[in-house]
Amino acid sequence: MKQKLTQELLLSLTADTPSISPKFFYDEIGSHLFEVITLLDEYYPTRTEKWIMDNYQSEIANAVGSCDALLDLGAGNCIKASQLFNSIKPKQYHALDISKEFLETAVADLRKQFPQISMSAHAVDLSQTFTFPTLQNLRKIFFFPGSSIGNYDPDKADAFFSNLAIQCNDDGGLLIGVDLVKDVQTLNCAYNDALGVTAAFNLNALLNINKLIGSNFNPVNWEHYAFFNTSLSRIEMHLRARDDVKVTIPELGSKDHVLTFKAGDLIHTENSYKYTQDDFVEKLRSAGFENIHSWTDPQNHFLVCFVNARKIS
Ligand code: AVI
Repeated sequence: MKQKLTQELLLSLTADTPSISPKFFYDEIGSHLFEVITLLDEYYPTRTEKWIMDNYQSEIANAVGSCDALLDLGAGNCIKASQLFNSIKPKQYHALDISKEFLETAVADLRKQFPQISMSAHAVDLSQTFTFPTLQNLRKIFFFPGSSIGNYDPDKADAFFSNLAIQCNDDGGLLIGVDLVKDVQTLNCAYNDALGVTAAFNLNALLNINKLIGSNFNPVNWEHYAFFNTSLSRIEMHLRARDDVKVTIPELGSKDHVLTFKAGDLIHTENSYKYTQDDFVEKLRSAGFENIHSWTDPQNHFLVCFVNARKIS
């Protein structure tokens, strides 16, 4: 495991455009920092999605229909899914997320509140190929809120949707939330909050990597840098070296690797794509979904869709 991660990170950090995967944000501290981000005034996506879910609760429940199993993709603290339990009434709840301890604690708490729903926690990396829990003959509803799809490159998002459409087995569906393109200032502020929580979230990836592979990144040498790239319709997050920096990455059974960065060099840590409503709906359609229901807020900042897998006749 450690060796595999070391190889993965060596490869991505020494590429022409050095990068680290956003999955490294989500250790226990990072998951808590993300929870705080969702409470910030500047970070509109979470509260706007909640507004849509609350405001259109019964319309959404009607569109979803019966739900044998709710599969929560990237469940985090499971709060968003739990807010649907009373309207959607799933018989089973399967929470999938990368942060194992965080997820298990959240599911354990939820079991006490909803003893009638059978629940399980699955620690998986959704950005890699993974196996869904086998749930034969059950109507499955996938739940992918929070614009997590925005963190996938558009091609990967298409592949992910096609896979979900297959997993739906003719009768299931997908309830998804996605952030929409809007004025650049609102977007930039959401990823550059005044308190510096997003900066801490970004920098914490370095500490997580140190824990995982024994490297010696010092967050003090790096600064948070985030902006909306209009031509690619995405927020880009980077870490920028404040000075010339050397980082040592130990490797089992061979010599340590020393990476050098010059002042101003960037490590790309995340993309967060923003879609127009039309482009997003088209994306779902091309992946094999039909019957597209969508809801938005009065400012058109965020979009929630429920779609059915197209029946293969
Ligand atoms: C989880 N994901 C949808 C967040 C986003 O907005 O792309 C992650 C995040 N990064 C910085 N702030 C929030």
